[in-house]
Amino acid sequence: MNVAAATTNRDNTGMTSIPPNPHANAQLAQFREILGPAHVLTGADAAPFCTDWRRAYTGEALAVLRPASTEEVSRCVALCAEHGLAIVPQSGNTSLVGGSVPLSQTNKRPEVVISLSRMQRIRELDALNDTMTVEAGCVLQTLQEAADAADRLFPLSLAAEGSCQIGGNLSTNAGGVGVLRYGNTRDLCLGLEVVLPDGQIWHGLKGLRKNNTGYDLKHLFIGAEGTLGIITAAVMKLFPKPSASVTAWIALESPQAAVELLAALRARMGDRLTAFELISRVCLTSVMAFRPGTPDPLSQPYHWYVLAEATDGGTQEALMARTESALSECIDAGLIHDVALASSTAQAQALWNIRETIPEAQFSNVKHDISVPISCIGQLVDEGMDVLRQAFPSCVGYIFGHIGDGNLHYNIGMPSTEETQALIARRAEVNAVLYAVVEKLNGSISAEHGLGQLKREEIQHHKSALELTLMKQIKAALDPNARMNPGKVL
Ligand code: FAD
Ligand code: MLT
Ligand code: ZN
Repeated sequence: MNVAAATTNRDNTGMTSIPPNPHANAQLAQFREILGPAHVLTGADAAPFCTDWRRAYTGEALAVLRPASTEEVSRCVALCAEHGLAIVPQSGNTSLVGGSVPLSQTNKRPEVVISLSRMQRIRELDALNDTMTVEAGCVLQTLQEAADAADRLFPLSLAAEGSCQIGGNLSTNAGGVGVLRYGNTRDLCLGLEVVLPDGQIWHGLKGLRKNNTGYDLKHLFIGAEGTLGIITAAVMKLFPKPSASVTAWIALESPQAAVELLAALRARMGDRLTAFELISRVCLTSVMAFRPGTPDPLSQPYHWYVLAEATDGGTQEALMARTESALSECIDAGLIHDVALASSTAQAQALWNIRETIPEAQFSNVKHDISVPISCIGQLVDEGMDVLRQAFPSCVGYIFGHIGDGNLHYNIGMPSTEETQALIARRAEVNAVLYAVVEKLNGSISAEHGLGQLKREEIQHHKSALELTLMKQIKAALDPNARMNPGKVL
């Protein structure tokens, strides 16, 4: 018998499996000494931190640790290193790929969840430098409100903003609806404070827009999904607060028409165009069914819509006039069937509520978060639905999302709940059919949500051997004992 295999057989996460942890109680006592008993959660208290937002993954943790400071994070991480415990960093736990919860394997290395939720301070807001230094557990909505109170804008915006936290936004390089004008979270960050897997603290909280001094280390941790270290604080950019905003619900013929409309509006409005979200009629009707009383914004049904938003300095009247003139030229050009312009903030919010309710309204189906060059969006929708319907006759495409970034949420269901459940059981086949089209269009199988557990295997088929080797070399350099968020990403 191979002795090595008997003591360190590898389970499907590729991790060595180690016998149950005989020192658990002693370790818990040490964590309680650092954090206080109230902030070392076990059993039922730990449960909410061990299931993901979509309830697709539930794992086990030795404990959920809730540090209140970077120093406490550092001490907990050093203790984990001493005992060989794996670590799952967690902020708002709204990950859609199972990245923020412990693994469910029984014979895995013991894991602790380190929740940053107690670290919510805004350490500094420097209006003249247009920066805000915040702790990782700060809820995204709080950053938006603090910026607004200082007459600035923090532009990251997504439907989970009431729960997700900036540490998780950075770690997933979150996108959302403002990417078109302001970029992803990566583009909004100037500096990081990170606790490394051995407990050392990297103090990188510089608020500089120019700092060419070797490798830009923050970019290793942004988008790393907690696999290289724990982000404990960040310096985020602020922007001028717009004084005018116009929201339009636009009916058009097809996703290709939406792509052409985007180009036409950007030609006329430039960066004033801040959001451009595609919504199919199927998504609109699913929201109207899910939330009775939701009105159809237009008097007759159309197959495709775009929810567009423009913002600017200056007067509301000037922006409205500019937007109306651009839209009427596009109507004359045959790009638009109909349009409803919000005439109040409440009306604009009602339109955004439709968009933000889409994920809940079609909660259970086979979801995709894919991106292609914007010019290929029309082909992605047409060819994607063709091959999907051939493979899964009568399937339904819930297609919506950030078309301005080339990023669609391309969720596939069936006419009935039972058939949809059966399709979900064939997820891998559905993925394979659609991902073949994404590959052909030189796109990505994960535009903004990351890989987590959900796409850890899949990514092996979509990145080159060299890319995977380079990622593993970076992982080995920063986390040689592979204790950071095992089973995610790689
Ligand atoms: P968590 O879920 O806690 O963690 C996410 C990942 O980051 C995990 O791998 C975790 O281990 C790691 N992590 C968390 N905190 C830290 C830290 N401090 N240091 C290191 N690693 C850490 N995402 C988009 O990009 N665009 C959208 O439009 C969007 N819409 C959404 C709508 C809804 C309704 C929901 C539920 C989610 C949506 N998401 C979207 C996904 C999710 O909100 C984002 O991925 C978000 O950035 C996760 O933030 P979080 O604080 O919840 O992180
Ligand atoms: C969104 O854009 O609404 C999300 O990224 C997609 C989702 O929650 O499914
Ligand atoms: Zn999205």
